[in-house]
Amino acid sequence: MDVIYHEKSKQFHLCNEKISYIIGIMQNGEPGQLYFGKRVHDREDYSYLINHEIRAMVVGDSSDESFSLEMNKREYPSFGTSDYRLPAFELLYDNGSHVSDLRFVSHSIRRGKPSLEALPAVYTENEDEAATLELLLRDELTGIEMILSYTIMRDHPVIARNVRFVNKGKEEVSIERCMSLSLDLPDHDYVWMQFSGAWGREKTPVEKKLDSGITAIGSLRGHSSANQNPFVILKRPDTDESRGEAIGAALVYSGNFLTQAEVDTYGATRLMTGIHPERFSWRLKKDESFQTPEALLVWTEDGLNDLSQNLHRLYRKRLSRGAWKEKERPVLLNNWEATLMDFTEESVLKIAEKGKEAGVELFVLDDGWFGKRNDDFAGLGDWYVNTDKLPHGIRGLADKIHGMGMMFGLWFEPEMVNADSDLYRAHPDWILAAPGRERSLGRHQMVLDMSKDEVQDYLYERMHAIISEARIDYVKWDMNRTISECYSLGREAAEQGKTYHRFILAVYRLYERLIADFPELLFESCASGGSRLDAGMLYYAPQAWGSDDTDAVERLKIQYGTSYGYPISSVGAHVSECPNMQTGRISSIATRGNVSFFGTGGYELDLNKLGDDEFEQVKEQIVFLKKYRGLIQSGNFYRLLSPFKDNYCAWMVVSEDKSEAVFAYYRILEEVNPGHRRVRLQGLDPDRLYRTRDEAYYGSELMNIGVEISAVPGKKDAPDGDFFSRIMVFES
Ligand code: GLA
Repeated sequence: MDVIYHEKSKQFHLCNEKISYIIGIMQNGEPGQLYFGKRVHDREDYSYLINHEIRAMVVGDSSDESFSLEMNKREYPSFGTSDYRLPAFELLYDNGSHVSDLRFVSHSIRRGKPSLEALPAVYTENEDEAATLELLLRDELTGIEMILSYTIMRDHPVIARNVRFVNKGKEEVSIERCMSLSLDLPDHDYVWMQFSGAWGREKTPVEKKLDSGITAIGSLRGHSSANQNPFVILKRPDTDESRGEAIGAALVYSGNFLTQAEVDTYGATRLMTGIHPERFSWRLKKDESFQTPEALLVWTEDGLNDLSQNLHRLYRKRLSRGAWKEKERPVLLNNWEATLMDFTEESVLKIAEKGKEAGVELFVLDDGWFGKRNDDFAGLGDWYVNTDKLPHGIRGLADKIHGMGMMFGLWFEPEMVNADSDLYRAHPDWILAAPGRERSLGRHQMVLDMSKDEVQDYLYERMHAIISEARIDYVKWDMNRTISECYSLGREAAEQGKTYHRFILAVYRLYERLIADFPELLFESCASGGSRLDAGMLYYAPQAWGSDDTDAVERLKIQYGTSYGYPISSVGAHVSECPNMQTGRISSIATRGNVSFFGTGGYELDLNKLGDDEFEQVKEQIVFLKKYRGLIQSGNFYRLLSPFKDNYCAWMVVSEDKSEAVFAYYRILEEVNPGHRRVRLQGLDPDRLYRTRDEAYYGSELMNIGVEISAVPGKKDAPDGDFFSRIMVFES
């Protein structure tokens, strides 16, 4: 891994064993994007990649009419001169002009990767793991400076980028747009993949062939959202799960975002991602600076499984932090679907005791333990225990759970308040609301103005007190409504364009304060399921509740779709009650378990209600989970058969050293007299002999001949029925 600087040609070559990223300072003084992709040989000068052709109706640059920005690939483009594609940034000066001219001044190359102030980012554990190039650009007229930062990782085919603006001029300036990255690619022979959905059906892969014009997704909900996710893939049309070239772009941010690809008239593609410019406007006073979130580019030539595995590895090892980042996740039991808000200390202890008997390690008390929280009309904001339900307080309950030898976890939804709460009655001005206008409600609740120090200090004090007093081991941090009327009461008009971003910065800050106080605490983020499952959150909470849809069959799609961008260890997945609360569907406890294993694993039901046979199966599942979760949560995950395209879903995880693998397949609907189906496994060592329960096969057999999935050998006297599943372990 290196950043090579060619002084004569003013070109920079960032490279590791797999990728090259080449930047050249162009004749107008701005950095041009010369190449990104598979590692290429270094050379002194790649100027042949800079275009000097001028065509009719193409405007030339002020430095030289035979050089047009429209015909070139730019690192961080502006709008207003000779390029008509959408820009990466836009500055509004006090005289009303939007035209900027930032030129290269100097560069620095350093080992390692600096952290980003107040924002989540990939990190290194020692300086040899990465190299960082910073380009300083300045607008001579206005004094605005910009630092473009690029990190190349040694062990990951990844470039991390961010931008910092500094106002070294005399006048204020307003940042109206500031993407975290912009990447100009020479062609548009790509299929764009986005991960879309809604509550209960998160992260469905959607594919579109790029063509002339703009393809874009984004969120204006104040959180990254279940509707769109700040992660996209550009793959070549012939790329599949195991072969072919693809680029992934992920934004390490949890607020409003925009990700788009613009294909221009000459067939080039401009990919960008960053904070959504709509409702964003950041006044920058003299000597102030603004830091964009980080964005990541990942590249592969070995198909989408490899792309995902690279991201999974990066997120597990160098994005998530703290005591739990690579630890096996505890088998948890959550009371939400079992009781909703209708519980007492006695009733939850009964559920917890049965959990303990089954082998559960962490008991989580969900919503309803505080204030007058008996339904979702009241109580949010009043983070004081409801002693009608829990007469011995959270501490009393936690002590009993700890006494049983389990960890204890608790639910919070810090960012919200109900009108019917003591907090709102005392501080009606603590919410986000447009002055003089009615406020919109979501789940009967309002959003707190997290950017206010007094709001944050109240939440910090309450959470800190409860976590320390009851010695809480795990926090589920929920966020159950989208932001509306995003206005910060009491702040001046010119500050309002900062409110969305300030909100998410304040969420990050509150997390950071609690992490500093309780480094052993395991956080699980949640936003009505997966509405804030993004790379930014993984920096604070190494796992996230994948979806409120706990139906095993639906979960196949949700977990399959989520796996494109996020590691298995980050996706909360539980066995819940049947008929399922969201779909009414009945699936076997075996299949429910077999789906939840490919996430953090856990339970969300009253185990006392199971028959003896099912309870025994749960005990066995927990034994299985404890034995194999290390492998499943840290191995390489392969998608084999897509539930979006097939009656079958299949996936597997292979340990890094290829010595073990767990393979699972699921048949959605039973088939009568089906044709034979084999699925070829992946990622194994061809020369190794792998043992299953009753046979041994070489990796080469499993990967080429495959495993029969249409019938279970030796068992065909009765149909398996719908929602059948099977897990196979291969050990060498
Ligand atoms: C959200 C979460 C659920 C549960 C409820 C409690 O919907 O996603 O898991 O915690 O809130 O109100």
